[in-house]
Amino acid sequence: MALWDGRFEGGPAEEMQRFSESLGVDLKMFEEDIAGSLAHAAMLAEVGLLTADEAARIREGLLTVRAELREGRYRPGIALEDIHMAVEHRLIEIIGDVGGKLHTARSRNDQVATDVRLWLKRHLGLLDEALQALVEALVDRVEADGRTLIPGFTHLQRGQPVWLGHHLLAHAWAVQRDRARLADALGRIDRSPLGAGAMAGTPHPIDRRRTAALLGFGGVVENAMDAVAARDHLQEAAAVCAIAMSQLSRMAEELVIWSTPEFGLVRVGDAYATGSSIMPQKRNPDAAELVRGKSGRVFGDLSALLVMAKGLPLAYNRDLQEDREALFDAVETTRACASITAGMWRTLTVNRGRYAEALRGDFLLATELADYLVTRGVPFREAHHVSGRLVRWCERQGRDFTALTLEVLREHHASFEADALAWLDPEAAAERRTSFGGTAWAEVTRQVGVLRGMLDG
Ligand code: ARG
Repeated sequence: MALWDGRFEGGPAEEMQRFSESLGVDLKMFEEDIAGSLAHAAMLAEVGLLTADEAARIREGLLTVRAELREGRYRPGIALEDIHMAVEHRLIEIIGDVGGKLHTARSRNDQVATDVRLWLKRHLGLLDEALQALVEALVDRVEADGRTLIPGFTHLQRGQPVWLGHHLLAHAWAVQRDRARLADALGRIDRSPLGAGAMAGTPHPIDRRRTAALLGFGGVVENAMDAVAARDHLQEAAAVCAIAMSQLSRMAEELVIWSTPEFGLVRVGDAYATGSSIMPQKRNPDAAELVRGKSGRVFGDLSALLVMAKGLPLAYNRDLQEDREALFDAVETTRACASITAGMWRTLTVNRGRYAEALRGDFLLATELADYLVTRGVPFREAHHVSGRLVRWCERQGRDFTALTLEVLREHHASFEADALAWLDPEAAAERRTSFGGTAWAEVTRQVGVLRGMLDG
């Protein structure tokens, strides 16, 4: 029998019970639910709503229920509907009617809101650890292999030579921003809804700040109706995850293409590669493909949370019970993807010689010729045009920039001097870019220092 069945003559249909239960997903947060009850009972005793003896018995009972749930000795049936009723029902079974005093001045509405916020605090913390480990893996990789010259791409066409470290740091900074977004979201999540009751508060002299402090919340949600109705913090957490997944999928895509023989820049480590059941030679970057694919799931989770709450009148509506499946999936999937991506970066090998020769004479050095002319006082727009004509000249010969001689350069512009050809060295091209945030190695190492400081701090 349900704990709310006083006004009913008949019980719910079996089909209805199966349809309305949230126990399956709620069991992931039974620790949070019991923590909330322990804090609530302690506070009720402090304000005189429970005697010390009643509070002690409730506390003991709750600890027993928790042990039973941890050890799998208590498996609540779906007739109990959700984790809140499952815990209270078992508590009353164990300690008797006094257990019924626990629900004084609270509702399942503020309980579920409290549980989810506690779950989020714990799991966003774990997600942040995974993201931090990923930034560390990237920065370690920059220090190990960063001084490898690669083409920097735009439109996936060769653009300008850069150090691999410059490219990897671009990813590291993006992940570091995901961490900042997460910390910012956590600040809003860290407010206790407990004691809001159904929506209106309670006539009993409770102390919401006390339960908030006991549960480790940084503060309380100011308005009781907002406390039970708000789901924007779930949407925000899922949005943080979705943005992180969008970023992770870009990194994953690069690992997929970089590990093809056509690119040949990296070789995914055995620990994160898989074979084919038919093609014996295969060594597939499945981990990266799964990260790329799972991004779609997390975007779906965010959509589900946005649409679930859209147009919903205040305060609690049962629609809100749909929130956890999407939320938990978003957070857990993103954490797994961050961790797998860090693992891939830690175990792959970089083919450091891949582009050493390949970039010599490549047209990706065309900007150098333009920049050279700029140092001779030629307006960049004109210099760009001259360099473009030199590319066209080489293409007509079926050659690359190694075909250029000082004579050819001077035929295209009188400002070219003997030192111009030296500008066509790809490494020198990367090293010339010493502007703040540029690819020059000194700038790469400066950023490594800044990131390391953020990781330690
Ligand atoms: N199982 C419910 C949920 O997950 C708990 C709150 C139920 N409240 C109610 N008024 N039916 O949202």
